[in-house]
This record gives sequence, structure tokens and C-alpha cells, in this order.
Amino acid sequence: MCDAGATPMIAPSILSADFANLAAEAAAVEGSDWLHVDVMDAHFVPNLTLGLPVVESLLKATDIPIDCHLMIENPERWAPPYAEAGAHNVTFHAEATDDPIPVARDIRAAGAKAGLSIKPGTPLEPYLEILTSFDTLLIMSVEPGFGGQKFIPDVLEKARTIRKIIDAEDLQLLVEIDGGINADTIEQAAEAGIDCFVAGSAVYGAADPGVAVAKLREQAAQARNAGTN
Ligand code: DX5
Ligand code: ZN
Repeated sequence: MCDAGATPMIAPSILSADFANLAAEAAAVEGSDWLHVDVMDAHFVPNLTLGLPVVESLLKATDIPIDCHLMIENPERWAPPYAEAGAHNVTFHAEATDDPIPVARDIRAAGAKAGLSIKPGTPLEPYLEILTSFDTLLIMSVEPGFGGQKFIPDVLEKARTIRKIIDAEDLQLLVEIDGGINADTIEQAAEAGIDCFVAGSAVYGAADPGVAVAKLREQAAQARNAGTN
């Protein structure tokens, strides 16, 4: 039984898009709920992607709300500027800071939603008390750093736990999942109570990314309905 939001949200990850054509790649997924942007610093994760100037340009190029996933060290220093630039949601990693609450406060003060992300091996429990400071919980279902990895189903236990708490306490928190989401895995994630599904290779590896988004959303909606009936 889960009481996730009415329509599942799909957030294509541009990590699997053509970085030389980001405006067109955003336009290709026009009907998406969020556009997921993976910021990696080659320190918190062993990969390097893009930063604030690219996000600023993307904000001018699309009307899709930008969902920044910061896989970076020192989020207290680097996260608020993404909110100031106009990102809809700014998510940083729990493992990257000893003091997440002030970071969330700064993100919200700058006008964005604040998100907390946890890696597959990071337990939920230490963060339960602070989730009221956040608008989104991003559960990683692969080790952060690269697209195209295999989904880790064990993390769904965390999704089921937080869904129960959200429903019982009427918390205003979206639960997002990121990594290995595709036609084979989205249903189990939907049944576990996920609200928002990030998909990189499953969207941008498809012949028509816009159609892939619509199909994933439909699949998630059906799986969720089957779970609640
Ligand atoms: C991985 C990134 C993901 C990545 C997902 O660290 O956070 O957003 O783009 O890619 P797929 O959907 O291919 O696993
Ligand atoms: Zn991501």
C-alpha cells in the first residue's frame, strides 16, 4: 500500500545525452517533469562532468524544471549558487558533509527545493530526523559516478521504509530514485513507493527519448496502481 503522488514523475538524466547539443537534447524530452543534471567534481566521485556555467545555459534553453544532482565535495560552498541560478531542485550527498541542515537552509533561502541523496550503502536511519529540512530524498540505486550501471534492488528497502513514514506522518517529501532505471526495473521501484524516477541511458539510448519518457511514466503508473488495488 503506498500513497505516492498521483502521477509518477520522470526525470531524464542528460549524462547520457549529447553534451554538444544540450538544448536539442532537452527539447527532445519536453514532456518530462524534471531534467536531471549530474554535477560531478572528480573528488566525491571518480568522474568529471559539468558545473554552474552549463546549468546557467541550460536554464535559458529549456522550460523543464532543472533537477541538479550534486556529486561534489563541499556542498556548503558550491550548492547554493545552483539555487540562485534558478534550478528547481538542488540535491547534494549526505556523505559529502557533516552538517546537511544549513546547506538545505541555504538552498531553500535561494529559492530552490532542497534534496538529500544517499548512496546505495548509506542507511536511511541517521537522516530520518532531518528530513523535514528537505523537499526531496534521492535514493541512489547505483554507485554514483557513471550512467549505464546495473540497478541495485536492495535499496528498495529504504524506499519502502521512507514511504511508510511519509504516509504515516504526512511528510511533504518527494522520493526520487537514480541509477539503472529502465523498462525492466521501474515497476519494482514504483511498487516500493518512488515518486520520481531518474533515467539516463533508458531515455537517451532510445530511438525517441520523448516516447521513452512517456512509456516509463505509464509503466510506473500501472505498477503503482496494481500495488494499491
Ligand atoms: C549516476 C548518475 C545518474 C545517471 C543515471 O551517478 O547520478 O543520474 O545518469 O544513468 P542511468 O539511468 O543510465 O543509470
Ligand atoms: Zn544523478
